[in-house]
Amino acid sequence: MKVSDCKLVDIPRILDNRGNLSFVEQNRHVPFTIMRTYWIYDVPGGEDRGGHAYIKNDEFIIALSGSFDVVVSDGNSESVFTMNRSYYGLYIPHGLWRSIRNFSTNSLALEFGSTHYDPDDYLYDFDSFKAMKADGKI
Ligand code: TYD
Repeated sequence: MKVSDCKLVDIPRILDNRGNLSFVEQNRHVPFTIMRTYWIYDVPGGEDRGGHAYIKNDEFIIALSGSFDVVVSDGNSESVFTMNRSYYGLYIPHGLWRSIRNFSTNSLALEFGSTHYDPDDYLYDFDSFKAMKADGKI
């Protein structure tokens, strides 16, 4: 997978004077079957999250509240996706390095995953990740 395989996906918006509503459906807006949902919140100022790659897990990230930057790398090129609206999401397929930075106060990151949590699915060392990419192992 390459950085260019990541996609920003528009999420439907039902605009209403009583308050707006958005929704996602698996295998439609989220381009995989959702096996896991988690969220990141109460991030102290200046903290980064998620400097790692998944070997198998695909993910889809929405900024439900506030803003943050998702930095994605395939070992050759890097892109920064600024997430600051709850009506679009970022699809990141497996095999990419990603970290999340610049969390605003009270930001809330919602994440869907295509696999159950598996600690063996993580690569935490960027140089090993790059070597595996170069060898076509991931
Ligand atoms: P981690 O994925 O490393 O967080 P981040 O990438 O955002 O920095 O997970 C942090 C901790 O939470 C780690 O101990 C594993 C645990 N965890 C689960 O138990 N289940 C999950 O689905 C996730 C994402 C994490």
